[in-house]
Amino acid sequence: MAPISTLFWLSIPLIAAAIIYQLGVPNVEDIFDLPFVSSFLVVKIIRQAFSQTYCYASVQTLSTGVSSPDCFSVSNGKFSRVFIDETSFDVTKDARTGHVIPGLWDGHGHLLQYGELMNSVNLFGTKSMKEVQSRLVDYKSRHQEAGTSEEWIRGVGWDQANFDGKWPVSSDLEIDKTFKDLYVMLDRVDVHCIWVSEKVLSQLPSPLPDIPGGEIPTKGVFCDNAIDVVTPYYPKPSNERKARFLRDAIFDLNKLGIVGMHDAGVFPSELTLYKELISDEDWTLRVYAMLECETRNTFCLDEAVKLNTTDGKLHVSSVKLFADGALGSWGSAMIEPYTDKPSSSGSLLVNATTLSKLTLDWAKAGFQVNIHAIGDLANKLAVEAFTSAYPVICPGLTARECQNKRRFRIEHAQIIHPDQQKQMLEIGIIPSIQPTHATSDMPYAESRLGKQRTEAEAYRMRSLLPLNPVLGSDFPVEPANIFEGMYAALTRRSPRTGLDPDGGTKGWYPEETIGLEDALKGFTINPAYGAFLEGKAGVIEKGAYADWVVLDEPLESLDVESLRKATVKETWIGGKRVYKRPGPDDLSSDI
Ligand SMILES: *[C@@H]1O[C@H](CO)[C@@H](O)[C@H](O)[C@H]1NC(C)=O
Ligand SMILES: *[C@@H]1O[C@H](CO)[C@@H](O)[C@H](O)[C@H]1NC(C)=O
Ligand SMILES: [Zn+2]
Repeated sequence: MAPISTLFWLSIPLIAAAIIYQLGVPNVEDIFDLPFVSSFLVVKIIRQAFSQTYCYASVQTLSTGVSSPDCFSVSNGKFSRVFIDETSFDVTKDARTGHVIPGLWDGHGHLLQYGELMNSVNLFGTKSMKEVQSRLVDYKSRHQEAGTSEEWIRGVGWDQANFDGKWPVSSDLEIDKTFKDLYVMLDRVDVHCIWVSEKVLSQLPSPLPDIPGGEIPTKGVFCDNAIDVVTPYYPKPSNERKARFLRDAIFDLNKLGIVGMHDAGVFPSELTLYKELISDEDWTLRVYAMLECETRNTFCLDEAVKLNTTDGKLHVSSVKLFADGALGSWGSAMIEPYTDKPSSSGSLLVNATTLSKLTLDWAKAGFQVNIHAIGDLANKLAVEAFTSAYPVICPGLTARECQNKRRFRIEHAQIIHPDQQKQMLEIGIIPSIQPTHATSDMPYAESRLGKQRTEAEAYRMRSLLPLNPVLGSDFPVEPANIFEGMYAALTRRSPRTGLDPDGGTKGWYPEETIGLEDALKGFTINPAYGAFLEGKAGVIEKGAYADWVVLDEPLESLDVESLRKATVKETWIGGKRVYKRPGPDDLSSDI
C-alpha cells in the first residue's frame, strides 16, 4: 500500500504545477528556469507535455532578452521560453535549417479592399490606355457575370501619367460591343480618384453637384470628396462576398510572412463582420483596426467600440480622421501652391477648427487618433490638433508625456514643413510611413513640389527615425510585400526595377535611406508599439504571441538585390503554421 500512497502524494504537486503552468500564471516559468528546479525530471516532463519546442539554425528576436538563442517553446499560443540549446550535439545543430525573424506587421493597409482588389481588375503597371482596355477585356472574358447593376466591374491601378498626361473619360470604357452598357468603376493608382463608365454616369443626378474638397477633372472622373457623388449608387458587396474578400486577403498576406496589420479605416458595419468571422479557423491574421465613421470626419461614438479579443486577433482602440487627399491628383493640402500648378495648393477635406474638435472629442472618449495627412498644410493641422488636445486630456503632463501615453499618429506623414518635423521630434508624434509611396511618387514628386521643398520636406525616413516610425505599404495601393517595402526604405529605388527616377542606382534623395535593422523594426516592434501591443507582437520573447517567420537565409546576410525578391519559407501565428512554401526542401523543423 505504501508505494501507492507515496505516488499519490507526489502526484498532487505535479498536477498542481501542471495546471498552473497550463494557465500561464506569470512567474511560474521563471521558477522553472531556476537551474536547481529546471533539472528536475518532473519539470522537464511538464514542459514537454504542455509546450512545443522549435529549434532553428538562427533566431533573431528583436528582444533584449537571451542573446543569439536558437530555440523557443510555445504554450497557449504564446512564447513560453526562448533559449540556447546546450544539450544537443553539434551535429544535430548543424543539420538545422531555417532562420527565424518575428512575424511581420504592416502598419497601414486596407484588408477588405485588398481582398476586393484580388477579385477585381488589376491595372497596376499598365503603361497605356490600350493596355488598360485589354486587361478589362481579358477580365470580362473570365467573369461573364460582372458588369451588371448588382455587380459592377471594379478595378484599380490606372494613372493618367501613362495616358500622355491626359485624364481618361467615360467613353474610353466603351471598348467594344461587350462593354456597351456595362457598369464599370476603376480606382486611380492612389485610390483618390475613380473613373466610371457611361452607364454609371447615366445613373447620376444632372447637373452634377459641386462638392467642396472634390474635383471632376473630366467627364467620368471623380476625385477626393467628389467620389461621394458616385458611391451612393455603387452596389455594396454582400457580407458573403466580403467574407470571401477577407479570406482571400488573409491567405495572401500569410504567404508574405505577414502575421498582423493595422487596418487604416474600418466602418462600424465592417467591424461587426470582422467580429463574426474572427473566430473562424481560417482567420489567421491579427488586425489592429482604426475605426472610420460611415460619414468621414465625424464623431460617431454611438457606433464605436474599443475591444481586444482574448486570442489577440482583433484590437480596436483608434479612430482614423482625414485631413487631405493625395499628391498624384494635386489633392494634398499644401502651405504654398504646387510648383507645377501654381493656381492650386490642394484641398483640405476638413477645416482646422473641425479637425481639432474631432481630435479632442475622440481623445476624450479614450481613442488613439490617427490622422491621414499628406501635404505640409495637412501635417501642420494634424500636429496642431494634437498639441491643442494634450493639455485638455492630460492636465499636468507635458505634451511629450501625454503623447507617450496616447500615441497619436500621422498616417503617411509625407510632406512635412521643417517646423512640424521639429515639433514631431520634440513631442514624439508617431509617423506612419509607407516606403514604397516614396518610390512610386519619386518620378513626379519633384515637379509637384519643386527642388527645395522636396529636399527639405518630402518623404522623410532617416530624419524621422528617432520617432520609431511605423512602416507599412498601404496595400492595395501598393503591393503588400514587406521585403519590397524594406528595399525601398534601404535604397530609395523602385522595388520593381531596382532603379531611381534617373534610371540609376544612386537612389532618390539617398540621405533619407535607413538601415536594415531599422526597417525590420519598422515592420515589427514599431507597429506593435503604435498599436499598444509592445511586448506582445513583433518580438520573440516570453509572453509574446508566438508569431514567427522562417527564412532561407538570415535577413542580414541577403544582399540588397536579393532582399527585394526574398520569399518566406513558413509563417506561424499563435504557434500554428499558417503557411508553408511548397518546395523540395520539405524537412520539418519541429524537434
Ligand atoms: C487592449 O489591450 C491593450 C494592450 O494591453 C490595452 O492598452 C487596452 O486598454 C485594451 N483595450 C481594451 C478595450 O480592453
Ligand atoms: C469649419 O467647418 C465647419 C463644418 O463644415 C463649419 O461649420 C465651420 O464654420 C468651419 N469653420 C471655419 C472657421 O471655416
Ligand atoms: Zn491608406
